[in-house]
Amino acid sequence: MLIVFLQSYIHNSRTMTKYNVLDKNNISYKPAGQFEETRFEKIHNVILSNSNIASIIVAQEIAELIKSKQDENKLCVLGLATGSSPIKVYEELVRMHKEDGLSFENVVTFNLDEYFPMEKDNIQSYHYFMHEHLFNHVNIVPENIHVPDGTVKNEEIYQYCIDYELKIKAVGGLDFQLLGIGRTGHIGFNEPGSHLNSGTRSITLDHVTRADAAPAFLGIENVPRKAVTMGISTIQKAKRVVLLAWGINKGAIIKETIEGDISSTVPATYLQLHKNATFILDNEASAELTRVKTPWLVSSCVWTEDLKRKAVVWLSETSQKSVLKLTDKDYNNNGMSGLLVEEGTAYDLNIKMFNHLQHTISGWPGGKPNADDTRRPERSEPAKKRVIIFSPHPDDDVISMGGTFDRLVEQGHDVHIAYQTSGNIAVSDEEALKFAEVNSILSDRSRATDATIKSIQDKKKYSIDSLEVRKLKGLIRRSESLAATRYLGLPDKNVHFLDLPFYETGTIKKNKLSAEDNEKMCAIIEEVKPHQIFAAGDLADPHGTHRVCLDALFAALEILKPKKFMNDCWVWLYRGAWHEWETYEIDMAVPMSPDQVLKKRHAIFYHQSQKDGVMFQGDDSREFWVRVEDRNQLTAKKYNNLGLADYAAIEAFKRYYY
Ligand code: F6R
Repeated sequence: MLIVFLQSYIHNSRTMTKYNVLDKNNISYKPAGQFEETRFEKIHNVILSNSNIASIIVAQEIAELIKSKQDENKLCVLGLATGSSPIKVYEELVRMHKEDGLSFENVVTFNLDEYFPMEKDNIQSYHYFMHEHLFNHVNIVPENIHVPDGTVKNEEIYQYCIDYELKIKAVGGLDFQLLGIGRTGHIGFNEPGSHLNSGTRSITLDHVTRADAAPAFLGIENVPRKAVTMGISTIQKAKRVVLLAWGINKGAIIKETIEGDISSTVPATYLQLHKNATFILDNEASAELTRVKTPWLVSSCVWTEDLKRKAVVWLSETSQKSVLKLTDKDYNNNGMSGLLVEEGTAYDLNIKMFNHLQHTISGWPGGKPNADDTRRPERSEPAKKRVIIFSPHPDDDVISMGGTFDRLVEQGHDVHIAYQTSGNIAVSDEEALKFAEVNSILSDRSRATDATIKSIQDKKKYSIDSLEVRKLKGLIRRSESLAATRYLGLPDKNVHFLDLPFYETGTIKKNKLSAEDNEKMCAIIEEVKPHQIFAAGDLADPHGTHRVCLDALFAALEILKPKKFMNDCWVWLYRGAWHEWETYEIDMAVPMSPDQVLKKRHAIFYHQSQKDGVMFQGDDSREFWVRVEDRNQLTAKKYNNLGLADYAAIEAFKRYYY
């Protein structure tokens, strides 16, 4: 067990916070230099390699506060948040209660917000959320729990909010406030426009906030338009504030909040005024910060090969010049004189970078037989490779790498597709009914099919599908997948439906990965003994299923690593429906002709249940095939702008070393 001491000093230097972190998972931290602040940053922040360990740190700070208050015989007043960000913090607090005896007897909680109107027992309510994730599992006194009430009558809300503030004041104010941040920059539900002096009140939700909540409510039209929220001034009065942000989707708003000017259009920027606020970020949420994205602009850099690529591509993009046209002056004027000292002249560096980029392009994703492969992304041998394409949902294979999939099959490799989840929750009831009715007619109205039809018709809003309906929905996605894989010339025997159990909850909230998930992942890899694995490294999907599927792959790789066949197995990560690799990150760029683009589009069309305003679209209303075509064209355009050949579209991959 490794004990890591991570010290972090509060920005305004008046207070000092020290984190003692017990790192059970042997997760290593970034070096201390990572925590240096820069002239661009106006809020103290700590970047950690992943949200699990970051959540443990925050839970430890809360636990220490609770205990120190116990020692003083005082109440510990916590302001709590809901949403996806704090879930693991609550999980760790529950663990500490159960395993380490952490008592919540002296804890009083005030939640930030609640939808309005909202019944307490609605599974979408924050009242329900808090009980499910924390309160039901610890020894907190029920009277000490306060979550804004979404059932208060309209005419009583004003007084209700004043009373909420008074209750906080009566117990001495918030000792600690936990926050998440919305993509609008809201904290609590203080949407853009909120005033610094605002107190607890009712508020109209922003469209982006409602779109983000839409999947949980099965459609934006079901998301309440209003909420009751603590105000900015309520939050500002907390003695300590910790804001959590995880994932790529938070990158842009985190940069605006930490580096931008204080403004009501990004309410979280008010936290720049707080004396004791810390943002805890994972790598992805910090990715847009100047010191992370363009470190050469803020300090001298250690120029690794990756950083050189990032810097040259950035310079070419910002100066709108192809790589071979960059001059010494361009480098010197953009904080990269140190790079020139290492590399000689711009001329030498440009050619080196151009060649590197050129060598990432290959129309032979499985390697080109009988060719010199020293400068190609893939090995030429064996000429015919065994390949597994892992697809989190039954359609990511064609959406994200349909062109490459097609080439791999055409070039004679033994391609296998492994659909990791059934994807059943993303089929609408209307779609399922259609199939159930056809089935009913064909089976001469068998009792089973009629029961399925009735189950769909009787389903209450937000209730979970019956097992039969889930099975039907999963089968619809299976037949769509087979139609697409057949179209791309793959025999059915090479298509594997893993139906990983973690996904089978019938709701958006998924189970944790279990031994059974691991076994299924390992079994398919052992069966195929692949030379190549392609998998989704797409971490921005709204429900995190891709992330869990990737974790499932990483776990399997860890288990299988000692096996001999794994020495020959290379792993390539694709992205697609939601996000793309940055150009400098790409290790293999597979170009597509206009005809191949059309073929890919056609393959995506077989996934009919996912067309036309699907259930889990996110806030991008374009259909998947449009999004991905735009993205593949953009990658090609970016390559072209760097001075490379002009392709219709490019699918991009990053090699993962395990
Ligand atoms: C929740 C709340 C919101 C969320 C924010 C981020 O009580 O007040 O401000 O913290 O919308 O949500 P997640 O964490 O789901 O990204």
